[in-house]
Amino acid sequence: MTTTTSAAVWPRCDATVAWTALRGHYEAHGRELDLREAFARDPGRFDSFALQAPEVFADLSKNRWDLATRKLLTDLARESGIEARRDAMLAGEPINTTEGRAVLHTALRAPRGAAPFGEQVHSVLDAMLAYAEQQRRRAKQGEITDVVNIGIGGSDLGPQMVVPALDAYAQRGLTLHFVSNVDGHDIAPVLRQLDARRTLFIVASKTFTTQETMANAQLARAWFLEQYGDGGEAAIAKHFAATTTNVDAAATFGISATFGFWDWVGGRYSLWSAIGLPIALAIGADNFRALLAGAHAMDQHFAHAELAHNLPVQLGLLDVWYRNFHGASSRSVAPYHQGLRRLPAYLQQLEMESNGKSVDLDGAPLPMGTSPVVWGEAGTNGQHAYFQMLHQGTDVIQVEFIAVRRTHYGPEILSPALRAGLADQHNKLLANCLAQSQALMLGKTAAEAATEKAPTASAELDVATIARHRSFRGNRPSTTLVLDELSPRSLGALIALYEHRVFVSGALWRINSFDQWGVELGKALCSQLLPRLSTGDTAGLDGSTAGLLKRLGAGKSADVA
Ligand code: F6P
Repeated sequence: MTTTTSAAVWPRCDATVAWTALRGHYEAHGRELDLREAFARDPGRFDSFALQAPEVFADLSKNRWDLATRKLLTDLARESGIEARRDAMLAGEPINTTEGRAVLHTALRAPRGAAPFGEQVHSVLDAMLAYAEQQRRRAKQGEITDVVNIGIGGSDLGPQMVVPALDAYAQRGLTLHFVSNVDGHDIAPVLRQLDARRTLFIVASKTFTTQETMANAQLARAWFLEQYGDGGEAAIAKHFAATTTNVDAAATFGISATFGFWDWVGGRYSLWSAIGLPIALAIGADNFRALLAGAHAMDQHFAHAELAHNLPVQLGLLDVWYRNFHGASSRSVAPYHQGLRRLPAYLQQLEMESNGKSVDLDGAPLPMGTSPVVWGEAGTNGQHAYFQMLHQGTDVIQVEFIAVRRTHYGPEILSPALRAGLADQHNKLLANCLAQSQALMLGKTAAEAATEKAPTASAELDVATIARHRSFRGNRPSTTLVLDELSPRSLGALIALYEHRVFVSGALWRINSFDQWGVELGKALCSQLLPRLSTGDTAGLDGSTAGLLKRLGAGKSADVA
C-alpha cells in the first residue's frame, strides 16, 4: 500500500532528477560562483532574490546561487513531495512515524475551528491565559514578585528565548527566572533571591518524568515548605502550577493548577502550548495571542505560497544546497537585537534535535550530511569573539543576520536626550550588521591591503607579507532577515519560519524530524551510573568511565558547601 510517507509519494532528495541536475550545475557554475561578479553582472540581483513573508523580509542575494540554482532547488522540493508532506502535517496525519504521532504545533496557533483539535486547544489556551491574567493582577497588588519556570529543553528554551525578546511588552514588577540544569548551581542562586510568599513556581515538563526537572521541582518544593513555615502545604496550590501532558503526575506532585497539552506537540515545538505560560505571565493574554497570530500568518504563507516564493521552503533549500553541495557543516546565526540573545540556543535544539539523524524514514542509512551545527551570538558581541574565523578562517560558514528596523525599549525611557542616544546606538547597530555581511562578501585582496597603512603592523615584516595576513578572501555567503520591529506578532512569525524551514530540509532528507531517540542512550546510562556515584562500584565499566568515577570521588560522601 502507498502511504503518505512512502518513498513513492515522498522520495528522498537524492532520488530525484533535480538532484542529478543540481550536481552537474554545482560542478559547472555553483562551486565557483562569485558574488561580487554576480552583483556586477546583474544590477537587479537584490530584487530578484528578495522575499517578503508575513512580518519577515529576506535578502537572499548574498548567497552562492543564481536563478538557475534556485529553479533547480525549487524543482528538487517539488519532486521530493514537499507539498504533500506539508499538507499531511497540517492535516494531522501521523507523520512522526517512529512514535505514531501527528505533528500539530500549527494547530496551537490556528483560529478556533481552523485546524484539528481546535476545541481542546482553545479551551486550554483560554484557561491558561485567564490564569496568567489572574497572576498578573496578583503581581500588580504585590502578592507575587517572581516566577520561576522549572523545565529543560523544549520546556525551557522557547519561553527563555521569548521572554527577554519581548521585554518591552513585559509587565514591570514581575521577574521571570528560568531554571533548567540539574546542576544545583542553577537553582541555588535563584532561590537565594526569592521570598517564598511572593513566588510562583511553574513545573514545565511534557512527560513530568525528566530527571533534571523533577529534581529541581522537588528541591523547589522542599525550599518553599521550609521558607513558608506553617501553612506551607496548603499554600502549594497558590504557589505552584504545572504545564504538562501528564496531568496525573502533576496531581501526585500536589499541583492543582495544571494546564495540559498533547502528545502531538513536540517538546521543541511547544512554546505555543501551555508551555508558553511564562510568556503569557510576562506579556499578558493579548500579546500572547498576537504571538500566536504571527505564527499562524507564517503557517498560512508556508501552506499557500508558491514554492519559489515560499520563504521557509527557500531557506530550507539553501540549507540543503550548502550542506550537501558546498559541504558546509555549520551555520551561524547573528541576531542584531540583544533581546534575541537566546535565539541561537533555541535554534540549536529546534534544528539539531529535529534533523540530527543519520537514517531515513525506512531506517536506511543516509548517504548525505543532515543537520548542520547551528550556533551564534547576538551582534555586535559575536563580532568581537568569533567573527575573525568567519572572515578569515579556512571553512566557509553560512551566516544568517537578523536586523530589526525600529526600536522599542518600553515606556520607561522617556527623556528626549536618552531617546536620541538610543537612536544613535541603533544606527550603529544596523551599520555593524550591514558591514559584516558586506565584508564577508566583498573581502579584500592582498593588493588592496598593501595600499593601506596598518598602524600595528610589525616593522620587521615586509609589506607583502603583512598584506597577506590582512587580506580577506571574501565571497562568503550570508542571508539577512529583516523585521520592521520585534513585536509579539513578528517574533511569532520568525519562530514559525524557522520551524518550517527545519521541516523542509528534514523532509528533503526524508528523515523523521519529530523524534529524538538520540537522547535516550545517555539518559539510560546515567540511571545506571547514578548509584555507582554513591557506592563507588566500577565493576564491568570501561576503563575511562571507571577511572573518572574514582577521580570524581565516587563512593565517598558528596561535598556540598
Ligand atoms: O532532551 C530530550 C527531551 O525529550 C526534549 O526533546 C524535550 O524538550 C526535553 O527533553 C524535556 O522534556 P520534558 O518536557 O518531557 O521534561
